[in-house]
Amino acid sequence: MATAPLIAPSILSADFAKLGEEIRAIDAAGCDWIHVDVMDGHFVPNITIGPAVVKALRPHTKKPFDVHLMISPVDTYLDAFAQAGADIITVHPEAGPHIHRTLQHIRSLGKKAGVVLNPATHESVLDYIIDDVDLVLVMSVNPGFGGQSFIDSQLRKIEAIRRKIDATGRDIHLEVDGGVDVKTAPLAIGAGADVLVAGTATFRGGPGKYAENIKVLKGL
Ligand code: DX5
Ligand code: ZN
Repeated sequence: MATAPLIAPSILSADFAKLGEEIRAIDAAGCDWIHVDVMDGHFVPNITIGPAVVKALRPHTKKPFDVHLMISPVDTYLDAFAQAGADIITVHPEAGPHIHRTLQHIRSLGKKAGVVLNPATHESVLDYIIDDVDLVLVMSVNPGFGGQSFIDSQLRKIEAIRRKIDATGRDIHLEVDGGVDVKTAPLAIGAGADVLVAGTATFRGGPGKYAENIKVLKGL
């Protein structure tokens, strides 16, 4: 349990008027991935960014873009986000009719495929797709907004998914998204997560604080 978790700052909490600069700052501050929250005002009640913005941000860092798609229907946009520079593409089973096909398509584009479980989605959704995923993302808030409180019931789900992943013997990432802060990060890690998304907790205090914020989340 000694290895520090990977930290994926959600740029939803960054200053949208200077996203390139913000990405360079979190890169220099020691983040591991860049978490990009894509929302369509339909699958979730908020609208954020599209493939053109992802493409514009791509030259600002070499770190992996972890693109969380909260859009429906999702299949139509997979190619565009892959071409824009996504490295990991995560999708909600509720966002399309055939999650297995969607995951296969992401992998056929040469990208890592992730499945996202909403707070009320049961982990059994993984049973027939676990061989087709590189990452499982557990939502510890309802998707749509940054700055919400961590839903504690998700800890049991993280534990259950950790057991499923270990049973596969494969190196599947277990990522947690929503309300991750200095208090909840150790709980998520203790339950078996190895990647933490953090918007508010990374960007709090402005660029001078990013390195310290990331260090604290890593438990260093
Ligand atoms: C919510 C997004 C999260 C969110 C996290 O729909 O998927 O990535 O931005 O923000 P915090 O860390 O502030 O809860
Ligand atoms: Zn997210």
